[in-house]
Amino acid sequence: MTSSFDTLISRISTDSVKWETIQSEHNPLHHIRTDLFQGPDAAIPMWIADMDFAAPRPVVQALVARARHGIYGYTERSQTYDQAVVNWMKNRHNWEIQPDWIVATPGVIPALAMLVRTFLQPGDKAIIQPPVYFPFYHVLRVNQIEIVENPLRYQDGRYTMDFDDLARKARDPHTRLLILCSPHNPVGRVWSREELTRLAQICLEHDLLVISDEIHADLSFVPFTSYGALGKEIARRAIICTAASKTFNLAGLAHSNIIIPDRTLRAQFKTYLAQNALPNTNLFGRLATEVAYTHGAAWLDDLLRYLSQTLDMVEDYVTRFLSPLRMIRPEGTYLVWLDGRALGMDPSSLQRFFVERARVYLEQGAIFGPGGEGFLRMNIAMPRKLVREALRRMRIALAESVASRGD
Ligand SMILES: Cc1ncc(COP(=O)(O)O)c(C=O)c1O
Repeated sequence: MTSSFDTLISRISTDSVKWETIQSEHNPLHHIRTDLFQGPDAAIPMWIADMDFAAPRPVVQALVARARHGIYGYTERSQTYDQAVVNWMKNRHNWEIQPDWIVATPGVIPALAMLVRTFLQPGDKAIIQPPVYFPFYHVLRVNQIEIVENPLRYQDGRYTMDFDDLARKARDPHTRLLILCSPHNPVGRVWSREELTRLAQICLEHDLLVISDEIHADLSFVPFTSYGALGKEIARRAIICTAASKTFNLAGLAHSNIIIPDRTLRAQFKTYLAQNALPNTNLFGRLATEVAYTHGAAWLDDLLRYLSQTLDMVEDYVTRFLSPLRMIRPEGTYLVWLDGRALGMDPSSLQRFFVERARVYLEQGAIFGPGGEGFLRMNIAMPRKLVREALRRMRIALAESVASRGD
């Protein structure tokens, strides 16, 4: 049975980062022959985390109708918007929030940077858990925050947190913050309630603020627990970053909801936004989020089914034909973490191998920090036909490389 997610939609001439600016001189791979990214045999871009699926129809219709209106003057967040966010958190994540806990910002990463500037001083320390979404490093570095790494453990194909190491590092009085990635990009873990509670106990004991980046929460294949839903005491020292952007493919609309249960923390962050004249957000981002949260639940269920079937296909293919690559199946996110260490290549050669020999553009694992070397991240949120074609190309490239080594 075909699904609407099987429809191939060209993104050429849309200024798509994934499909077009891949060739820009700022891209680290720009020195690779750009013709690899052009023509009928162009490289398949499976790197940056957006999807090649159209947003739910009610979202598209609402945006079109609003665009047709023709007047785009000043607007404000409405009560119906707040209620849509409250309902979504309750219905999808069993987390009861109050409308006034919501602070809208133009994206999660901008919010992270602003949160760091609100609550930390240069010279303070913050903990992250690599291999992890690399902008966490950037946000901390540019704000002169010392990065303390609490690396994840990788054993028998599964990632877990190292709580003993975390407890040791949290003890340092200069350590003020932990940025949690939940679900975790790139390793795909959806942290269990027990794991989150253990982490929370350590952070509470040492009075660490926790920013939980939950942008991938809706894309979980196993039960997801929001850090904010762990109880009042934990939520008092927590800031939860959410957005409809990954879920419904709205990232270009640059909109997110930062949920801050504690009144004092919220007031501090709002003051920072006011100081930077940022208390309002773009009307289209808000509209798309409200409509998606109000009318998008069934679409999301279909999407999760589609992605899950694609994951089955990828897992089967990698196991049967892409040895020695190993797949770590994600519990959440549409990002597949591939262990390519057995190929024995350095990180950039590994990525170049697949882009040059297979014409498949994967994200290099090493950019996610220690523990990412020798890994690749593959975005499978595209029509399955394209994913299948990418896998076929990778199989041929690997077979040719084995054959040429044998010569
Ligand atoms: C964990 C995580 N946080 C944040 C972002 C980006 O958020 P935004 O586009 O809202 O800045 C991404 C995008 O891939 C992500 O994976």
